Amino acid sequence: MTQDELKALVGRAALDHVVPGSVVGVGTGSTVNHFIDALATMKERIAGAISSSVASTERLRARGIPVFEAAEVERMPVYIDGADEIDARGHMIKGGGAALTREKIVADLCERFVCIADASKQVAVLGRYPLPVEVIPMAAAQIARRFAAAYGGQALPREGVVTDNGNLILDVRGLAIADPLAMETEINQWPGVVTVGIFARHRARICLLGTEQGVRTLAFD
Ligand code: 5RP
Repeated sequence: MTQDELKALVGRAALDHVVPGSVVGVGTGSTVNHFIDALATMKERIAGAISSSVASTERLRARGIPVFEAAEVERMPVYIDGADEIDARGHMIKGGGAALTREKIVADLCERFVCIADASKQVAVLGRYPLPVEVIPMAAAQIARRFAAAYGGQALPREGVVTDNGNLILDVRGLAIADPLAMETEINQWPGVVTVGIFARHRARICLLGTEQGVRTLAFD
């Protein structure tokens, strides 16, 4: 199977985790695009969605799924999103699609993060994928220097990318993230950091992993 076929497989499998009658938290990316297409087949059985990006909002609306503002919903049962890397405890690197801030906001509204990913995203230690960090533009150089000093990471602005919130993305290479929760907590304190793409506090509770043998369900306690 191609990587895209594996993404489509888990996108469809995620329907089993949608709670009928509820508002669904929807992430961003090519795997989620498959999920949105699958979700359209049961749109009469859900109340609608809260979306984590302009791109996902457009896709949801184009398929006739009502999209609400985050302020309209207090709590949702499930958030479904992809990942750039996921470790054995459900910690993730996210933000390859530059939507990490809204993804974390919507994940925070939900009881359970269900990650959908092809098997290439599973890693022992996070950090081979460059860590995305959304930053206020005036702080970008300062934050890049701090990554070098604190972690020996090389942070470079992602060229030509402005986030849905009008900020920049730094991609940080050369990290081995042994303690994702500690690193997320530390980087969150740096002035000018909007969101770091480590999802430890908002880790996945379930991962539907697309493999050649089919969908493997990983549950993290
Ligand atoms: C977007 C993300 C995506 O979930 C992540 O980049 C995975 O994307 P894809 O499903 O296209 O492989 O975090 O900000």
